[in-house]
Amino acid sequence: MTQEEKKALITRWIVAAAFMAVFWTVIIIVTGGRYHSNVSGLHYFLDMHDTSMVRAQREDTTTLENVKQALFKGADQNEVWGGPGSSMRVPPEGTVPRGYEPYPYEQAEIDLAGANLKNPLPLTQTVLERGKDRFETYCAVCHGMGGQGDGTVIPRMIQPPNLITGQSAGWQDGKIFHMITMGRGNMLPYAAPIRPADRWAIVHYVRLLQKKGAK
Ligand code: HEC
Repeated sequence: MTQEEKKALITRWIVAAAFMAVFWTVIIIVTGGRYHSNVSGLHYFLDMHDTSMVRAQREDTTTLENVKQALFKGADQNEVWGGPGSSMRVPPEGTVPRGYEPYPYEQAEIDLAGANLKNPLPLTQTVLERGKDRFETYCAVCHGMGGQGDGTVIPRMIQPPNLITGQSAGWQDGKIFHMITMGRGNMLPYAAPIRPADRWAIVHYVRLLQKKGAK
């Protein structure tokens, strides 16, 4: 190989390398995905990339205009967030989840609930065990394992009335059910975390505690 031929070969390699560098740079810029987003550089099918779907936890700007209220009362009486910019959808007024029975009493109607509601659960060992389990999970932190108002958060939290010696010992079952469902004063409603059957099981268990305590 002559000197001339060698030079020509080297030049050809340099040209080829430069071409490949430019070629791949362009390809990467045009099609390259970005690490922090799910979006690739070039959109071939726009309708598949840009859906009107709202992603979880993202702001939905379409609700900035037409939603003014920040908090709504959900079917379970608890407030749900669905304010301006929220992507959470607020159920249309008057709708309830499938299989859900709306609670017919207002918070203040405890006496009415007490007069009308009867405990639908039979008093059995299984029901009592369920009631004990739920009571010790949800109520005992404040009311204490035995209902004496000596739960572990007391006195850091305001002391609740004694369920054994207090007025609730003389209440009908329905009033205790109403108390759990709607709450009162410093006690929040427990309608959301405890389903109705479990609330009635708790009522049976509270009755048992009261009977034991009264001895
Ligand atoms: C965060 C603490 C807390 C928890 C948890 C809690 N309660 Fe209460 N409870 C209270 C307080 C405080 C009151 C007094 C409410 C008021 O200020 O009028 C109360 C009141 C009551 C009363 C009425 C007592 C009376 O003599 O008037 C009943 C019945 C009752 N609770 C049952 C329950 C049951 C059953 C649970 C579990 C599902 C429960 N509570 C969970 C704090 C709590």
